[in-house]
Amino acid sequence: MGTRFLPATKSVPKELLPVVDRPLIQYAVDEAREAGIEQMIFITGRGKGAIEDYFDMAFEAEAIQRERGKDLSALDGTRLAPGDAVFLRQQEPLGLGHAIWCARDIVGSEPFAILLPDEFMKGPAGRGCLKQMVDAYEEVGGNLVCALEVPMAETPSYGVIDPGKRDGALTEVKGLVEKPAPGTAPSNLILPGRYILQPEVMKILETQEKGAGGEIQLTDAMASMIGQQPFHGVTFEGRRFDCGSKAGYIEANLALAFERADIGDHVRRFAAAELQGNWLDRAA
Ligand code: G1P
Repeated sequence: MGTRFLPATKSVPKELLPVVDRPLIQYAVDEAREAGIEQMIFITGRGKGAIEDYFDMAFEAEAIQRERGKDLSALDGTRLAPGDAVFLRQQEPLGLGHAIWCARDIVGSEPFAILLPDEFMKGPAGRGCLKQMVDAYEEVGGNLVCALEVPMAETPSYGVIDPGKRDGALTEVKGLVEKPAPGTAPSNLILPGRYILQPEVMKILETQEKGAGGEIQLTDAMASMIGQQPFHGVTFEGRRFDCGSKAGYIEANLALAFERADIGDHVRRFAAAELQGNWLDRAA
């Protein structure tokens, strides 16, 4: 619902908040495409129609830029052809598991990936989080979740892995628990919102009881598949920004701005002067 970003999210879906100049959801789409995903299914809700508009043709902007002889490259990858994008609405916020289940007929009988776009995963060039997971999938198949270490105190906010043997980036998943009570998490390895799952999870979701927070939890449905199919966590090489929180969102903006050829130097100088409380320097 984006309540942590009110009032910004009163009329703008949180997925469209920009990190520098690209909306959060665009980074997720870029990451999915880089991993070889061809069809995107957007599960949204009331008040999020702007997401569908965003991936449409920007008719006026394109016409005006073209007329003025301006560069249109900023719009690259922002238009999804009708067959490549499906928009669905979850009518009531019944939980992540229920949201995924809404896409069952479109997913059909193939493995599929899930990306939660408020988790911004920044990998090395050409090897984003989902690409790293697809590479791992080609080795081990089955079900894969991204696995991320966080301080133990943060585990009650997430899905948490009960880990088995670790082999390089792959950790065997022996159990999964959604939002464990403080002090009860089986590890500090959490699920930061990237999954590659077998379609059987949809059958389980159909009858999944409500779990943590009174919601139908994807984590609980996945937990039922452990032991039936291979299940691994993939430790991602890169950085994760929790853009569902204000601090994480600002961190993502700063980290990306620092790297940019067009504004990086300027923003770095600003940040350094600001940290020293020396705004006169900054102005110079
Ligand atoms: C959801 C999932 C949780 C996961 C988290 C990542 O929780 O249920 O397992 O760790 O996303 O951000 P939510 O943030 O929707 O409460």
